[in-house]
Amino acid sequence: MDTPMPEGPALAPVHKPDLMSVADAKAMDVPTMTELFKAHLNPGQLHFMKLLGFHKIKIERAEGMEYVDQNGRRILDFFGGFGSLALGHNHPRILETRKAFQDEKRHEIAMAFMSQYAAALAHNIAACSPGDLDMVFLGSSGSEAMEAALKVAERAAGPDRPMVVYAENSFHGKTKGVLSVTDGPLYRGEFKLLGDNIRVPFGDIEAVEAAFRAHPSIGVICLETIQGGGGIIEAPTEYWQKLRALCDEYGVIWVADEVQCGLGRTGRFYAFEHHGVVPDVTALAKSLGGGKCAMAAMIAKRDIYMKAYGTPKTAMIHAQATFGGIGEASVTALETINILYEEGLIDNAAETGAYLIAELKRLQAKYPKIIKDVRGQGFMVGLEFHDFSQTLPAVLRPAVAVLDDKLKGSLSGFVGALLLRDHDILVAFTEYNRNVIRLEPPLICERAHVDRFIEGFDALLGRGITAIVRDFVKSQVS
Ligand SMILES: Cc1ncc(COP(=O)(O)O)c(C=O)c1O
Repeated sequence: MDTPMPEGPALAPVHKPDLMSVADAKAMDVPTMTELFKAHLNPGQLHFMKLLGFHKIKIERAEGMEYVDQNGRRILDFFGGFGSLALGHNHPRILETRKAFQDEKRHEIAMAFMSQYAAALAHNIAACSPGDLDMVFLGSSGSEAMEAALKVAERAAGPDRPMVVYAENSFHGKTKGVLSVTDGPLYRGEFKLLGDNIRVPFGDIEAVEAAFRAHPSIGVICLETIQGGGGIIEAPTEYWQKLRALCDEYGVIWVADEVQCGLGRTGRFYAFEHHGVVPDVTALAKSLGGGKCAMAAMIAKRDIYMKAYGTPKTAMIHAQATFGGIGEASVTALETINILYEEGLIDNAAETGAYLIAELKRLQAKYPKIIKDVRGQGFMVGLEFHDFSQTLPAVLRPAVAVLDDKLKGSLSGFVGALLLRDHDILVAFTEYNRNVIRLEPPLICERAHVDRFIEGFDALLGRGITAIVRDFVKSQVS
């Protein structure tokens, strides 16, 4: 006979803690927001927000290309959430679709039953993907999609080929698997990372070939098609074509990370399409959520997927997570892809992006001592400043040059802060090369928005470096 469980102390009724309501959140002032951010979210990040002046801003609304702050100031968004806002903020068709989905009381969690929305989304993603990139896994973040990409590739490569090649200055996410193929101490910290991976310079085909030749246990190569965090770094078509040929020759699976550069940002649905090659596995995220929700996808060639999975025995090891393919995110992504094509946004990224790049090159010619390089494709654009010492009068250069490494990022910081303060323009930085400003406006960006951006940027650079530094320092004091 079972021994009866001893009775525990009588439980007191549950009391509601001191909670804030949605109305409280909506009405929150900037000091309270700052205090709570510091107390509960990320005190370290607040330090940088203060430097840039971002901490004074409470966003009340966002629409199209603009944020609107607590004072009604309209801020032009050339940051675009690091490529998460292909459709801009609160695209009306996205809002409508999501409202209809809610009003119809559709089911969200598709673990017991299949979802017609997730099925249609997977169909559409396969339809947008060249070759036989047909098999889709739905997740919630770029990191999750890239984890799924590395997992399918690892299983398809087989147990004797566990090594992964990745690139210098790469960024593939912050979960441990993808962190292991992400370069840079900024993110790797001192975590105990996975695998016996090999790092090669990005864009160096000889280094790839040498690695393949030296290590027969390499099974996978993982590369961003355009490096975002690395400073908007591209590799030429020749590189990608040789890479495809080498992967075929050595039987290595190529995983193309399109989390940031995919979904039309460069003027093609996938950035690799510019080079006439197809990877074995790829991943999308960011803008796939239409700027309203978390949605990501891993897409694998059918034969790779079938080698890795595809049987009842392997069904559960890669089945989606709790929120993978959730209803509202699937319906949002479905609508997002339709909007991209129906509104001609991919063509617009190519055309208006080329205009943006041409205008920036014009400014480079006007300010050659400040702007070192303009690069990128479509609306994935990097603008690199010279090292700080090089922007100063010749007599000061040698003395300041010794500080250049320490000062990396300072000019981008000054310019970013003043663009926001004085010209109502938001831009982003790149993590690894901090001399680079990253411009990833929504794909709805028109020439008029480019003109507004260029006008503000031109006016700021026209002040000259000394005035820019002085104005920034003053902004810190005030
Ligand atoms: C190229 C690339 N891969 C992966 C990721 C990770 O995506 P997430 O932040 O959604 O996990 C990012 C995010 O910035 C990215 O830029």
